Amino acid sequence: RAADPCVLVIFGAAGDLTKRLLMPAIYNLAQVKLLAQNFAIIGVAHTQLGQDDFRSKLRQEIHEFATVSVDDGLWRTLEQRLYYLAGEFQDAKTYQKLQQLLVQVDQDCGTGGNYLFYLATGANFFCDIATQLGAAKLTQEDNGHWRRVIVEKPFGHDLDSARALNKTLGSVLTERQIYRIDHYLGKETVQNILVFRFGNGLFEPIWNRNNIDCVQITVAETVGVESRGNFYEKTGAVRDMVQNHLFQLLAMMAMEPPTSFEADAVRDEKSKLLRSIQPLDAQSVIRGQYGEGNLNNTQVVAYRCEPRVAQDSTTETFAALKLTIDNWRWADVPFYLRTGKRLPKRVTEIAIQFKQVPSLLFHQTPLEQLTPNLLVIRIQPNEGIWLQFGAKIPGPTIRMGAVEMDFCYADYFGSTTSTGYETLLYDCMIGDATLFQRADNVELGWQVVNPILEHWQTVPPPNFPNYTAGMWGPQAADDLLSRDGRQWRTPD
Ligand code: BG6
Repeated sequence: RAADPCVLVIFGAAGDLTKRLLMPAIYNLAQVKLLAQNFAIIGVAHTQLGQDDFRSKLRQEIHEFATVSVDDGLWRTLEQRLYYLAGEFQDAKTYQKLQQLLVQVDQDCGTGGNYLFYLATGANFFCDIATQLGAAKLTQEDNGHWRRVIVEKPFGHDLDSARALNKTLGSVLTERQIYRIDHYLGKETVQNILVFRFGNGLFEPIWNRNNIDCVQITVAETVGVESRGNFYEKTGAVRDMVQNHLFQLLAMMAMEPPTSFEADAVRDEKSKLLRSIQPLDAQSVIRGQYGEGNLNNTQVVAYRCEPRVAQDSTTETFAALKLTIDNWRWADVPFYLRTGKRLPKRVTEIAIQFKQVPSLLFHQTPLEQLTPNLLVIRIQPNEGIWLQFGAKIPGPTIRMGAVEMDFCYADYFGSTTSTGYETLLYDCMIGDATLFQRADNVELGWQVVNPILEHWQTVPPPNFPNYTAGMWGPQAADDLLSRDGRQWRTPD
């Protein structure tokens, strides 16, 4: 069904997110008729632009960033529903003007007073915008219309700031009106983790400590810090990736079955899972920073030589950690997580390694040489699921070799044209918060990493840079697993 009529108000509409992801996602939703006929967008930003300039800017950008070829007729219909308001986010006058514009747009487009405010600005504006929206009474729901707010990441810089932001949001909105985005949850393959686990009878019975030896979650990127040095210097890999994206993957993989697919049922289970993570021990968290190197035949500079990065920066561009989950399902099963920039390939995957058989019938193959059963959920790219198991190598004696079964999304469903934001935007417009983080989810994530971040403030980092661009992180990350007699899987 098409989403509810509404006005999407994008704060920070002149920025990157709008042109690269939000507008292409809106266009894709329009194309499959999931937007209401009565839909409109108001862009708010401090850039001085007229309405026509805004429209033609977005027209040019959609041709550059759309994931499908753009139909001019469809775009024109959308374009007529684009409005722009120039103003400062901290200035109350901006919100008075916004109020007037919303009344006009409601009249012009029949949007019925439903407003979705998207905070796509720098995080330093989140509190101000929420407070101003509250003061202008734009967050008040009455006469049957709804008001919702989407908050982009980063959600806080640490536990205290995340709590403070939750408090500010909570002073003008109810939890039900707040949609905290983690764009990983918009990825089809991430949602598929739940379908794979809870829509099949085969896997869930073995999804536990009796059968699983360890789990490895890898989110590797080839890109460096790009033009975001300013932001990244204050952030680092743990804040940028671990506390949110990696923990979401972990929660989807390891949480208990929810009682339903309702937002709170799913989010309750995520919280329980995050709460069961044992306090991290500093020895089990490795940080790294890339030096110069050769990546896919291109020479790239060290992190410290990137624009707007300090020459003696101690910011980590790589993190690897071992954690354990103290519950009946996962006790003693190590979860190894790693993420980094300037790694050899862009790949996100969850690799589940199963325990070996208890004894071996086929003595020609020593137990320790037997390749373990491995299930790999490939989140991106080449989305799919891969299973490795042993088979008899043809011949007069019994010898075992590893073989594989491979499911590729593209083979069944074609290649995806989705940006990942379609589902998230649509869900907000229909009021489904299942794929959004609740206040306690975010705080629990911070609670896990906060002690490590605090500890790192007090001890100097290892000799940065400690990995060469194009390598799989520092030696210490390999040592973390070899201490346990294991090694990182090299993604294909
Ligand atoms: C963002 C981080 O949240 O996720 C970036 O801020 C990172 O540093 C990006 O590059 C990765 O997202 P994706 O969807 O490309 O894996």
